[in-house]
Amino acid sequence: MGLTGFFLISFLIVHCTINAMIFFNDGGQTFNHWGHFMGSNFFIRTFEIGLFIGLILHIIQGLILWRQNVKARPVNYAVNKPQTNSTWYSRSMGLLGTLLLLFLVMHLYHFWLPSRFGGMANVAVLETTTLGDYANQEAHNLYKAMLTVFQELWVVIVYVLGVISLFWHLLHGFQSAFQTFGLNHKKYTPIIKTVGFIFSLLICLLFAAMPVSIYAGWIN
Ligand code: HEM
Repeated sequence: MGLTGFFLISFLIVHCTINAMIFFNDGGQTFNHWGHFMGSNFFIRTFEIGLFIGLILHIIQGLILWRQNVKARPVNYAVNKPQTNSTWYSRSMGLLGTLLLLFLVMHLYHFWLPSRFGGMANVAVLETTTLGDYANQEAHNLYKAMLTVFQELWVVIVYVLGVISLFWHLLHGFQSAFQTFGLNHKKYTPIIKTVGFIFSLLICLLFAAMPVSIYAGWIN
């Protein structure tokens, strides 16, 4: 679980960095340039297959772990105060992961599906004037897709809720992955927890800022 977790974290870093190019507010030139590179590069397309396999493995591993926990203690403790030795989010990784999965289904439907399998019908309504070289390449115009998708308030709210689930999931997952690899040390674990907190916060603030600033009209 730790290994697939690290793999998914590395994807999130790349995904967030490329998406953050929208903050250049240059009509999508920089973002679409890198989006196009990612979408057309052979190695990255191969990595994409690995990404989906990694995601499915991560979910299966989570389910196996959950079953093992249930089997190990079929009868509940008579007295149980979990809050004294664990955080609520470490005990809710399954729930947070499920919320994330629901978010992902909608997310892939919004962007990945139309960009890989064509028919960006929902995008056609936008003006194409400010989009430079990519203005007429519907299939690669992910910037335009973002501007369209984030015009609806309820979509923005679902994305922000999805990112909040990601924050708590990462907060526990980051530190837990190190522990899985045997790194549980009086001196280093607090440092890993601090780095994990800063990382989770930064990634999630950046992700949340994307739909919010597009909806607010700060990016156009
Ligand atoms: C909230 C801000 C986000 C925005 C604006 C955004 C935007 C995008 C866009 C435009 C694509 C299409 C890329 C392509 O087809 O080439 C994409 C794909 C994807 N996103 Fe996001 N994303 C966001 C957050 C997230 C989060 C939080 C996750 C994971 C928890 C995630 C996971 C994915 C995955 C798995 C793909 C498909 C991967 C691929 O294209 O190879 N995204 N996203």
